[in-house]
Amino acid sequence: MSTIHPVPAEWAARAYVDAAGYAEKYRRSIEEPEAFWREETARLDWIKPWTRLSKSSFDEADFGIEWFSDGTLNVAANCLDRHLAERGDTVAILWEGDDPSQQRRITYRELHEEVCRFANTLRRLGAKKGERVTIYLPMIPEAAVAMLACARIGAIHSVVFGGFSPEALAGRIQDCDSKIVVTADGGMRGGKTVPLKANVDEALNHCTSVNAVLVVRHVGSSVTLAEGRDHWWHEERAVASADCPAEEMSAEDPLFILYTSGSTGKPKGVLHTTGGYLTWAAMTHHYVFDYRPGEVYWCAADVGWVTGHSYVVYGPLVNGATQVMFEGVPNYPDHSRFWQIVDRYQVNIFYGAPTALRALMREGDEWVKKTDRSSLRLLGSVGEPINPEAWEWYWRVVGDERCPIVDTWWQTETGACMMTPLPGAHALKPGAAAFPMFGVVPQLVDGDGAVLEGATEGNLCITQSWPGQMRTVWGDHERFFQTYFTTYRGKYFTGDGCKRDADGYYWITGRVDDVINVSGHRMGTAEVESALVAHAKVAEAAVVGMPHEIKGQGIYAYVTLNAGEAESDEIRKELVQWVRREIGPIATPDVIHFAPALPKTRSGKIMRRILRKIAENDTSNLGDTSTLADPGVVDTLIATRG
Ligand code: PRX
Repeated sequence: MSTIHPVPAEWAARAYVDAAGYAEKYRRSIEEPEAFWREETARLDWIKPWTRLSKSSFDEADFGIEWFSDGTLNVAANCLDRHLAERGDTVAILWEGDDPSQQRRITYRELHEEVCRFANTLRRLGAKKGERVTIYLPMIPEAAVAMLACARIGAIHSVVFGGFSPEALAGRIQDCDSKIVVTADGGMRGGKTVPLKANVDEALNHCTSVNAVLVVRHVGSSVTLAEGRDHWWHEERAVASADCPAEEMSAEDPLFILYTSGSTGKPKGVLHTTGGYLTWAAMTHHYVFDYRPGEVYWCAADVGWVTGHSYVVYGPLVNGATQVMFEGVPNYPDHSRFWQIVDRYQVNIFYGAPTALRALMREGDEWVKKTDRSSLRLLGSVGEPINPEAWEWYWRVVGDERCPIVDTWWQTETGACMMTPLPGAHALKPGAAAFPMFGVVPQLVDGDGAVLEGATEGNLCITQSWPGQMRTVWGDHERFFQTYFTTYRGKYFTGDGCKRDADGYYWITGRVDDVINVSGHRMGTAEVESALVAHAKVAEAAVVGMPHEIKGQGIYAYVTLNAGEAESDEIRKELVQWVRREIGPIATPDVIHFAPALPKTRSGKIMRRILRKIAENDTSNLGDTSTLADPGVVDTLIATRG
């Protein structure tokens, strides 16, 4: 039996929603959606109010997703302009560099001015409404500025995480045909410089579409600027006007593309639009974090991931929050870094990833205990299942048994939070994502699609559209439909497994498809496989996830070398380096297992179930192996497991 932490009395009394409030709002969101969303969309400033709530269908015949489609608004104006009168001098961003001595404070008025100058610069470089701008920046305020500048003029941003390699960056630039790239001379992580501009230069050797690169000077490293193509932001800024009227956008105009990994093929450009996404980010940020004006909020995610989009940039800024933005890593200069930042800025709400918590937990409690942390009142977790041990450590050691923990389940595709306990409403069960957000209808189904009721375990689907849902895969609407709506007809399939207990709490159990979650970073096994087979010495590769104490999952690669290639530690190292170069350090394989052959069915299909079991070192029950073309392959793999 798991422990239950009841709702603290002071939370029930003062939170935006208590238990009864949650039940009533949830009911209204489903039974009276028009009235419910009328209220929730009133958080935003609309230029033209919407009259059409939604026209969404998950069925093939009339497939499509639309929310508030005749309304118009501008996202940047919602995040900035409307705060100026009341909160112009309130700090929007408390930035701390990788080096603790580097700090910047930016008010809403200053952020507004920066965004206007940036937007005018993008325009001068040729950006127009509907065109794509790729952003490859470290965690510096200019990342938020660049995103909001795109939103201001109606350009579609595509942020690429700074840890991706030049090859991965090039693929993402090409897929959406960006003409402009925004980058920095470099980024800093744990005292080391990441050569962002050099990576862009290498990527652009493959991308002819790009005709302008805007470079933020950050680390001061020397970079080469290509004549006519590359421009320093600080030089542009000096001459750019701070007056930039915001473009009137339709609620269904695209806001951004964010590439994410799936079971098959190349990463997909997940497309989010304007009105529904912003409503969803604003509403969830408000209820989940119970944010109050004047509080300090900190989401430790990178803007390169969806969490950074919704809970560093759009959610907090649309709600007028004061937030910490941190460039560095949790263990530099030492393992107290997160909690030192909490104390320095008197952070009230902290939102982080289980992988960081597990890594810090291992270093011992003293690193936490020697900091004060009395400002904290709420903690959050995101990106992967949090194991009860890490949850209890977070609760006991970090939060001093005082701060509720919101374990928020969601996906790049869902825009923002979909299931979570609300801190004033729900008793907490360590490891449970608890209950659906307003407007979300989860359903568990078995492998054949039969709906499972009551306490059960199955595959997690969502049966109705919600405003923050992705609208398409960039350039491939058919792939959008095929990927998410055909496994279980008429339902959005999340790819996650899930349990529902007798109290109705939902527990995410992890991916049931060929997606793995490494340190909270989503990775398609197919991507790592195609990187491996692109190496001249590799004949075949199969990649699966393996349990990993810190990362949650590690990458386990079975590799068959070409005939005549001898297995060696050198090749092993070479392959690891190769994958890092092809995709980025986040895809570094943890294990390379040389396999003379892979277990295949007679029709040639690799039996991944068996490979997963061997990677997990759980070979006692491999299940039915009678359909294998050569069952002996399995014995060899077990015998050669390191
Ligand atoms: O498997 C789920 C896991 O992360 C996947 C989504 O990854 P991504 O699109 O990169 O978005 C991450 C940030 C929201 C999901 O399919 N996941 C995310 N949050 C949780 C989670 N698994 C369990 N518990 C969570 N709180």
